[in-house]
Amino acid sequence: MKKVLATAAVFSLFIGAGSISAATLTDVETLGKMIYESPLLSWDNTQSCATCHNVAVGYADDTAVSLGDDLVSTGGRNAPTSAYAGFSPLLHLNQAGEWVGGMFWDGRATGYTLGDPLAEQAQGPPLNPVEMNMPDVQTIIDRLSADPEIAPLFTQVYGVDAFADDFAAYDNMAKAIAAYERSAEVTRFTSKFDAGTLNAQELRGKKLFMQNCTTCHAYGRRGGDYPLFTNYKYVNAGVPKNQALEDDLNCAYEYPDLGLGPVVDDPAQNGKFKVPTLRNIAMTAPYSHNGYFATLPEMVSFMNDRSAFTPEVDANLSTAVGNLGLTDKQLDDIVVFLNTLTDM
Ligand code: HEC
Ligand code: HEC
Repeated sequence: MKKVLATAAVFSLFIGAGSISAATLTDVETLGKMIYESPLLSWDNTQSCATCHNVAVGYADDTAVSLGDDLVSTGGRNAPTSAYAGFSPLLHLNQAGEWVGGMFWDGRATGYTLGDPLAEQAQGPPLNPVEMNMPDVQTIIDRLSADPEIAPLFTQVYGVDAFADDFAAYDNMAKAIAAYERSAEVTRFTSKFDAGTLNAQELRGKKLFMQNCTTCHAYGRRGGDYPLFTNYKYVNAGVPKNQALEDDLNCAYEYPDLGLGPVVDDPAQNGKFKVPTLRNIAMTAPYSHNGYFATLPEMVSFMNDRSAFTPEVDANLSTAVGNLGLTDKQLDDIVVFLNTLTDM
């Protein structure tokens, strides 16, 4: 692995062995980046991971739901950021009997197969008919092994026989993508918040945020001094259904979206979605699992007071959100604070 810069050395303490400097990507991270940005993973060569997780909008998408490879169909959920996602642990029940971890809004990329939810997630989109729409693993590996830039680096990283077994190669493809998503190029920790240079209003917002939001958008956990603003638990915050998606015949949105419930086969989890990170949140509009909220102030205002909305799933609602009693001025301060979480 490559050496680290002074600042990156701090991050590597909790990213784990094998992390990188802000300036240089390791070979496996470079390989991951090439695959992440390659349209070869989509059937009509129309999209890459970066199409829906674009650096320009915080590694997310700027539409409520994303257009698939056929440029007509859309999925039924809003694309979350692929940055900072790699800290989510395997999906598991904690001692209090709550589900924690996994990848996707509903945790269905559990991490049980590859031991890493982030890598396991990367195996989903290429084969998803409303996303990249590839027919099978073999076709994907055939394409990668024929690519003049990707193939040599792939065998350099994973050995001369790296393409001998399609499924082993597909696992390694996913691990390389995950390595890139965890690299200091994507998961940067370079926001104004990280620099610790907040002004008076931002500090007021931070204090209000700590008092009202961190039971879910956790401050200290996992990230140590570099919080990730999620506890990776599942909550029904009461987000309403997105009627526009339901009306769109090309959209795979299935109302009601039950979230975690069907994944763990437990109706007591219906309507619960993974608490999202708030890093780069100012860049990733629209918001919530179905993209209902167009702007950050609207989203935060809903978190404060949801009384004017009918929840998409009217069961298992959390009482810790939606009734916080904050004033408009306090909400402004919180939004101003959230704007400091954008990486430079
Ligand atoms: C057509 C758009 C589209 C493409 C292409 C796409 N994604 Fe996604 N991605 C999404 C959507 C939508 C979700 C949320 C789906 C859900 O939760 O059910 C998602 C979820 C994720 C997540 C989960 C984040 C979290 O916190 O749970 C990660 C990581 C991710 N994608 C990475 C990737 C990678 C890597 C690729 C390429 C192999 C990729 N995506 C391709 C739209 C896309
Ligand atoms: C009880 C847990 C909980 C509390 C408290 C909470 N949130 Fe959330 N928050 C969530 C969940 C869960 C979601 C995703 C909901 C969904 O899409 O169905 C969410 C979504 C968000 C989003 C949109 C994220 C995205 O990527 O779309 C923002 C912004 C946000 N919350 C800000 C806040 C702020 C600010 C506070 C405090 C005023 C707060 N939240 C309090 C659980 C909570």
